[in-house]
Amino acid sequence: DTSALVDRFGRVATDLRVSLTDRCNLRCTYCMPAEGLDWTPDAELLTNDELVRLIGIAVCDLGVTNIRFTGGEPLLRKGLTEVIARTAELSPRPRISMTTNAIGLARRAGDLAAAGLDRINISLDTLSHKRFQEIARRGRLDDVLAGMAAAHAAGLDPVKVNSVLLRGVNEDEAVPLLRYCLEHGYHLRFIEQMPLDPQHGWSRAEMITAEEILAALRTEFTLTPSPEHRGAAPAERWLVDGGPADVGVIASVTRPFCEACDRTRLTADGALRSCLFSQRETDLRGPMRAGADDEEIAGLWQDTMWAKLAGHQINEQGFAQPIRPMSAIGG
Ligand code: GTP
Ligand code: 5AD
Ligand code: SF4
Repeated sequence: DTSALVDRFGRVATDLRVSLTDRCNLRCTYCMPAEGLDWTPDAELLTNDELVRLIGIAVCDLGVTNIRFTGGEPLLRKGLTEVIARTAELSPRPRISMTTNAIGLARRAGDLAAAGLDRINISLDTLSHKRFQEIARRGRLDDVLAGMAAAHAAGLDPVKVNSVLLRGVNEDEAVPLLRYCLEHGYHLRFIEQMPLDPQHGWSRAEMITAEEILAALRTEFTLTPSPEHRGAAPAERWLVDGGPADVGVIASVTRPFCEACDRTRLTADGALRSCLFSQRETDLRGPMRAGADDEEIAGLWQDTMWAKLAGHQINEQGFAQPIRPMSAIGG
C-alpha cells in the first residue's frame, strides 16, 4: 500500500501516539525533578486546529486506525474534549484512547467518553498514601482511585492500569496492586523502567525486571500464558489463576517487542518520531505554518517512518538516551 506508513523492515504504523502537552501536575521521581522541567512555550505548541489536521492526515491519508493521547498529562490540555470529539468525527473513525495519571479525571470521565474516548490507561504505582507522596510528590492517591472508578463507570473499556515498580520503594506491591485491579475489573500491566528520565539516572541494576515481577506474582497466583493473540501490543499477558482475568508485563528492556512495532509518534510541539528512542525527529510544525499541503506533510511522515531503526538499542554498546525525556515525547 503506497499510502501507508511502512518502514524498511516491513512494519506498518497504524497506531499514532499524540502528546498534547509536556507539562504534568505530578512529579514522579523517575520521570521529573521536583521543580519540573523547562516547559515548551505556548507559541511552539500545536494549536487544536493543527493537531486535528495532522491527526486527520494520519487517519484519512496514511492508514492510521488508533489514536492515543498522552502527555505529559493530557488532562492539562485546554480543549482536550474538543480534540477528542473532532478526532472521533474523522472517517474512518479511529479508535481513541488516552494515557493519564487520572488527577481530576473523576469529574471529567463522563464528558470524555461522550466526546468519543473509547478506553483509558491510568498510572498507579502504589496503594499506600505515604508512598504516593514519596513517588508522585504532588496530588492525592484518592483522586487517582476515584478517577479510575469514574472511568470504569463511564463505560471506558477496558480500564488499564500501568505500574512501574521501583527497587526499595514499592517493589513489594506487585501482589496488592494485582488484587486491587482484579477486585475492580481493571487490567493491570507492570512496566520495566526504561532509560528515558531527564536526570539520566536509569540503571539496569535498579530496574525491576519482568522476571522479578513474575516471580513475585507467582508467590500468590498461578500464571499461564494468555492464549490471546499479542499482535503489536507492548504487554505480554498472563492468565491469573486460569483466567479470565489477566495481568500484563511490558518488558521493553529484557524482552523487546520492536520487531512487531506499529507505532508513530507526534510531540506536542509538532515533531514526528518513528520510535520512542529516536535520536532524530521531523519537524511538522514549521512546514505546516509555512503553508505545506496535506500531501507534502504525508510525504514527510512516510519518509520519517521509512528511516525507523529496527529497535531501541537499549541493550547494545554505545546506547544513548534520546535528548527529550519521556514526558516530552509522550511515552
Ligand atoms: P495499549 O494499546 O493499551 O496496550 O497501550 P500501551 O501500553 O501501548 O500504552 P501506554 O501509554 O499505556 O504505555 C504503557 C507503557 O508502555 C509506557 O511505559 C510506555 O512508554 C510503554 N510503551 C508504549 N508504547 C511503546 C513502544 O512503542 N515501545 C516501548 N518500548 N514502550 C512503549
Ligand atoms: N520507563 C517506563 N515507564 C515509564 N513511565 C514513566 N516513565 C517511565 C520510564 N522511564 C510510565 C508511567 C506511566 C506510563 C505511561 O509510563 O508511570 O504509567
Ligand atoms: Fe517501537 Fe521504538 Fe518502542 Fe521498539 S522502542 S517498540 S521500535 S517505538
